[in-house]
Amino acid sequence: MEHTLALAAKIKNHSAHIGVIGLGYVGLPLVLRFTEEGFRVLGFDIDPIKVEKLNRGESYIKHIPSEKIRQLRDSGLFEASAEYSRLSDTDAIIICVPTPLNKNQGPDMSYIEVTSDEIAKTLRKGQLVSLESTTYPGTTREILLPKFEKRGLKAGRDFFLVFSPEREDPGNPLFNTNNIPKVVGGLTPSCRALGTALYGRIVDRVIAVSSPEAAEFTKILENTFRSVNIALVNELKMLADRMNVDIWEVIEGASSKPFGFMPFYPGPGLGGHCIPIDPFYLAWKAKEMNFNTHFIELAGEINTNMPAYVVTKLGDALNARGKCLKGSRILLLGIAYKKDIDDMRESPALEVIKHLREKEAKVLYNDPFIPIIPKVRKHDFGLKSTPLSAKLLKSVDAAMIIADHSAYDYGWIAEHAPLIIDTRNATRKVRKHRDRIIKA
Ligand SMILES: NC(=O)c1ccc[n+]([C@@H]2O[C@H](COP(=O)([O-])OP(=O)(O)OC[C@H]3O[C@@H](n4cnc5c(N)ncnc54)[C@H](O)[C@@H]3O)[C@@H](O)[C@H]2O)c1
Repeated sequence: MEHTLALAAKIKNHSAHIGVIGLGYVGLPLVLRFTEEGFRVLGFDIDPIKVEKLNRGESYIKHIPSEKIRQLRDSGLFEASAEYSRLSDTDAIIICVPTPLNKNQGPDMSYIEVTSDEIAKTLRKGQLVSLESTTYPGTTREILLPKFEKRGLKAGRDFFLVFSPEREDPGNPLFNTNNIPKVVGGLTPSCRALGTALYGRIVDRVIAVSSPEAAEFTKILENTFRSVNIALVNELKMLADRMNVDIWEVIEGASSKPFGFMPFYPGPGLGGHCIPIDPFYLAWKAKEMNFNTHFIELAGEINTNMPAYVVTKLGDALNARGKCLKGSRILLLGIAYKKDIDDMRESPALEVIKHLREKEAKVLYNDPFIPIIPKVRKHDFGLKSTPLSAKLLKSVDAAMIIADHSAYDYGWIAEHAPLIIDTRNATRKVRKHRDRIIKA
C-alpha cells in the first residue's frame, strides 16, 4: 500500500520521473506529451544517432517538427540516453520497442526480452512498468512478470505492471496523443489504478480493462478488424474488375447507408508496422491452443497477393499497348505505405519492386518524403527518388501510383505519363486522358 500511495501522489502532482524506452514513432510523441504536462522524462534508445539528435534538439520524424524537439530540449525536462543503469532514477517506465515478425512469420520478441531484462536489473520498489509495444495476449504476464518477480519483488505490492496499447494514425491531423482514448490493463487492481492515473495525466480518456491480456487482445482485434475488412474489399475489387464494375464507385454508394456500413478501401497491399504484422502475433499464439484463426490467415493471403495483382494489371495494360514488362521503364509514385507520411515499413511498394525486377522491368521511383529506400527486413534495393518532371513522365512506359500523396498534381501526371496504373483511385478527379489511366 505504501508504494501505491507514494507513486499515486507523485503522478498526481506531476513529480513522477518518466522513462520511455524506444524513441520511435510511438515513444517520441509520448515523451512530448509527458513533458508538456510538466513531467521530467528520460528517453532511452539503442540508436546513438537518435539519442544525439534529440539531445541536439533535432527531429527525425517528418510529422514532428524540429522546433518541437528544440523546445523539448530547452524545457530542461528531457534527456535522451543509451544507459540503462539510469532506469533506476525513474518512477514509471514505458516500453515502446519494435515487435516485428521473425523469418518464419512468428513474433520476434527479442526487443521486448532485451528491454525487460535491462529493466529487471535495476527494478526497485515503487516503480510502474507499462508495455506499449503491440504483442500477443499473455506477453506481459508470461514474459515481463517472471523476469521482474525474480528480483524478489511482488507485482501489485512492490512494483506495478500494466499493458497499454498504442494507437496512432500517422498523418491524420484530427487525432494526436491526447485525444486518442487509451486502454489500460493492469496485473492487479493497484497496477490498473496507477496505470490509469498515469495515462490520465496525458490523455483525455482512459479505459481500464480487467487484465493485461484484455488490453493486449484489444489492440490486435483493432488491427485484425482492419486487415480483414481491407482483404474483403481487395477481393471484391478483383471480382468487380472482371465484371467491369468500379469498386470505388460501389464503396461510395454503400457508404451512403447511414448505419451498419463502414467504408474500407482496396489498394496495392497492406503496409506499416501494425496491420500486416499484428494479426499474426495472435494467429501464432492461437496455435498454442490448437486453434486456427481462419479470418486472419485468409485476410493475410488476399492482402499479400495484392502487389502481384497490381503488377499483373500493369503487365496486361502494357500488353494491350503492344509492350511487355521485360525491359520497360516503370515509375512508382509514392512508396510510403500510405499517403502523406515518410514511413515505408512493410510498404507494398517493396513487393511491387521485387515483382517488377523479377520480370526484368527497370524500376524508378519518386516520393517527396523518402529520398532513398533504406535497407529493410527483406529487401535492399539501393534505389533513390528521381525528381519528378514532365520529361521523366514522358520517358517511362508507365507510372504506378502506390501512395496517393496529396502533393502530387494528378492531372499534370496524366498529361505527361503514357500510362498510369492507379492503385488508390488517386486520379478520380482527373477528367482528361482517362484512356491512359487503369485502376488496379
Ligand atoms: N508506428 C505506429 O503507428 C504504431 C502504432 C501502434 C503501435 N505500434 C507499436 O509500437 C511499437 C513501437 O513501434 P514504433 O513504430 O515506435 O517503432 P520504431 O521503430 O519507430 O521505434 C522503436 C525504437 O526502439 C528503439 N529500440 C530498439 N531496441 C531497443 C532497446 N533494446 N532499447 C531501447 N530502444 C530500443 C529503436 O532504435 C527505435 O528508435 C511496436 O510494437 C509497434 O507495433 C506502432
